[in-house]
Formats: sequence, structure tokens, C-alpha cells
Amino acid sequence: MKILDGKATATQIREELKVEVKDLVRLNKRVPGLAAVLVGDDGASQTYVNAKVRDCAEIGFNSELIKLDASISEYELLKKVEELNNNPKIDGFIVQLPLPDHIDENKVISAINPTKDVDGFHPENFGRMALDLPTFVSATPQGIVELLRRYQIKTEGMQCVVMGRSNIVGSPVSILMSRNDNPGNATVTLVHSRTKNLKEITRTADILISAIGRPGLVTKDMVKKGAVVIDVGMTRVDDNTKKKGYRLAGDVNFEEVKAVASHITPVPGGVGPMTRASLLLNTMKAYKRKEKKKFMR
Ligand code: GUN
Repeated sequence: MKILDGKATATQIREELKVEVKDLVRLNKRVPGLAAVLVGDDGASQTYVNAKVRDCAEIGFNSELIKLDASISEYELLKKVEELNNNPKIDGFIVQLPLPDHIDENKVISAINPTKDVDGFHPENFGRMALDLPTFVSATPQGIVELLRRYQIKTEGMQCVVMGRSNIVGSPVSILMSRNDNPGNATVTLVHSRTKNLKEITRTADILISAIGRPGLVTKDMVKKGAVVIDVGMTRVDDNTKKKGYRLAGDVNFEEVKAVASHITPVPGGVGPMTRASLLLNTMKAYKRKEKKKFMR
């Protein structure tokens, strides 16, 4: 069994980006800029957004963290989005989800200028992704594909089972894995809460991607021997032995499944760091697009 080390791979991607930023600085060019909008004080969202801003500082991107009160109106948030759309120093920005219940997430995402939508959540960008046109692919699906690419995992002709149909992970990663590309060209089955015979289906997977968010859901008996297992789960569970009082738990029962898998991503240290690295890659892409007035792949 081999660990697909997302932490080390993400570090490598940041090192590559650092070199690009150093070149820009040497040439007296502007550096890429990312803004993150955080509404409210959800602990997990705060952690993720802080990490994204820290990543920017580490590689030399400009970054701006915009913290807004949970009581902000939808109108005020839409105004903030418009401000960022028009801010020339910001190449890309994200609005961290989830948003408070009184705000329509789809309305906010649709208000982001697609050329600055480095999360790839805007309907135009999702559509472009589905049509295999140049776009921003959202960070988690892109991170998964990049991890498979860098570990040279063969996907062509493989059976890939994706668990979960969210707009952010399950649905887009199923599209990426089936499209005519490398990684890609897999035969994809997407399973969800209404799927019958779940275990029979997951056991057909050469590549199993779980994006459900239920700790320990994927057990050994659900995994074919030699499968590549990608765990997107990142649920906070109480743990008094940890300083923070919780630990991050994946969907996969790691101890059990590592005995049958050929490759497996750990939690933490698997998909999570790759998601963050992908956001940086998308920000660099947005920057280049703006500077060169063309969409780069
Ligand atoms: N919430 C959970 N994952 C994400 C993400 O990738 N981007 C944003 N904006 N919010 C999230």
C-alpha cells in the first residue's frame, strides 16, 4: 500500500509557484492577488480561510481577508462582491461557503465575475468545465486529479466510483474523471444517498472517491483489493486527547482499508492540502489571464 501524500505534493506545488513569483518580482512585475470573504464565525470556515491566506503569504501572493458579520444582508454582501469584481489588484476571490441561511448562496456565486471566480463555482465556469473548455476547475476536484496525475495513477479504462453528488466535489470530479483527458477516460459511476446495493457498486471500483462527509463510512468490505482510494471527508469529531478538542476524520476507515488498497489518501494530509494548492494554481491562472489577456490552461 502506498500513501498518496497530498501534503508533500501540495508543498511541491507551492515551491513551483514560489519560483514563478520570484521571477515576477525580479522583473518588477505585479504579483498575483487573492481575496477571501468570510461571513460569520463558523470555526471550520475560519480555519480554512486562514490557511488559504497563510498559503498566499508563504508563496508571495498578495492576499486580503475580508471578514463580515453573520448578520450582513444579502444586498451588502452582493455589494462587496461587486467591489471585488472591480478591484484591479485582486485577480481572484472566493466567498467561503456555507453562508448564513438568510443569504442565497447561488445568487452570491452568480454575482462573482467568472474571470475572478477561482473557486470555479460560477455556473458559467462549471458549464465550461463540463464542456472541457478552459476555465477554473474548482479546487477539490482539481486537487484530486492533480494528485492522481503526479502519482501517475492510470485512470484510462478504469472503473471509478464517486460517492456523493455535491456541486463542489462529487458532481465535478465525476465529470473530470470521465472526460477524454489524462487523468480521465475512466468509466464513472456516481453513487448517492438513494443508491441501492452500495457495497456491490463500490466493490467494482479501481478508483474509489468518497466525498460524503460521514466518518468511517467506507469499510474494508466495500473496497476491491488493489483499489486506489481517495478520501475527501474532513469532518470534525470531538477528541479530548487533542489540544483543539477535535480531530479531522475522513470518510474512509483508514486502518481497515489500507490493508486492501493499493494507494490511499490520509486524512489529514491527503486531499485537503491539494485543495488549497489548487486554489493557488487557479489564482496564478487568473493573474496570467489578466496580464496576457488570454485564458491559460
Ligand atoms: N467550503 C467548503 N469548501 C469550500 C471551497 O472549496 N471554497 C469555498 N468558497 N467554500 C468552501
